[in-house]
Amino acid sequence: MERLVGGAGPLVLGSVGLWVMYYLMQRLRLKNRLQDSVVVITGASSGLGKECAHVFHAAGARLILCGRNQTRLQELAQELGEPTDGNRQTYTPRTVTFDLSNTETVAAAGEEILKCYGHVDVLINNAGISYRGSIIDTHVSVQRDVMETNFFGPVALTQAILPSMVQRRSGHVVAISSVQGRIAIPYRSAYAASKHATQAYFDCLRAEVERFGLQVTVISPGYIRTNLSFNAVTGDGSQYGVMDKTTATGRDPVEVAHSVLRAVNQRQKDVLLAGPLPTVAVYIRTLWPALFFKLMASRARKEQRLKEE
Ligand SMILES: NC(=O)c1ccc[n+]([C@@H]2O[C@H](COP(=O)([O-])OP(=O)(O)OC[C@H]3O[C@@H](n4cnc5c(N)ncnc54)[C@H](OP(=O)(O)O)[C@@H]3O)[C@@H](O)[C@H]2O)c1
Repeated sequence: MERLVGGAGPLVLGSVGLWVMYYLMQRLRLKNRLQDSVVVITGASSGLGKECAHVFHAAGARLILCGRNQTRLQELAQELGEPTDGNRQTYTPRTVTFDLSNTETVAAAGEEILKCYGHVDVLINNAGISYRGSIIDTHVSVQRDVMETNFFGPVALTQAILPSMVQRRSGHVVAISSVQGRIAIPYRSAYAASKHATQAYFDCLRAEVERFGLQVTVISPGYIRTNLSFNAVTGDGSQYGVMDKTTATGRDPVEVAHSVLRAVNQRQKDVLLAGPLPTVAVYIRTLWPALFFKLMASRARKEQRLKEE
């Protein structure tokens, strides 16, 4: 027996050595994957999108920053274009301004994006708007507007870029969804609906484009410390204008941006970036829906009581 093990020793050591070498080479390859790649980020003017711009720029990507506010996008592009003392080659980002909620104009924006470098390697559908309100007091037009920005806009942009990716047999589409794309929380109907639709659409896309060698990643974060709640719309379409405590105490957007970078580098398909409580809630919704519905009804009652106080 001892002789058998002794004889196998060099073989085992050799295999482990080969595996370690393979692992290190893979890591090196993944680390360099984004150098010179063309990365489009929507909603790059603030919050998570802005931090994604910083981390993808530092990784050597050629960025195309999108949003509605040309001044803020230009300022960010200029800031990122400043020379740094890092040893990685970086590029001054380009900008393309358009409103995602106006889906008629998104195809033209897609063409403008493609003209920048002739192709897109990574499309990060990040832009979004949130909503606060009770269904009973919310006009259908508000529900539709949120869907236009969070769902139909990204769909139109993805479909404008997709043929070029298919033709090149290369490309990666990322959708920034939300935990609320997995579970629906009361008084967030339009937002939760748009994010559930996002999850479903990009899951279908992943399956359909795998044969062309394309990647699709859906990222579902919990609360992030950004202006999302402040910029949210209410039932009558006006701005909510409140920084919710949950958002104010949410994750650091820089940390989330690094998770987005990792997900792209590692070609992860579906990422839930949430703390233990929302993660458990996602499992309860699947495994014990009756309990989940009870908990949500109780949460709705509590929120209503607080509003009335
Ligand atoms: N913050 C959170 O707690 C949280 C949690 C989970 C998921 N998310 C998701 O993360 C993504 C980024 O949001 P954030 O938290 O960074 O919020 P944010 O700071 O409010 O940023 C939203 C971005 O979307 C852009 N945008 C909004 N409406 C647009 C439109 N109609 N057309 C084009 N661009 C538009 C905004 O750009 P302009 O206003 O300059 O056009 C802005 O850059 C969203 O998809 C959001 O749903 C956020």
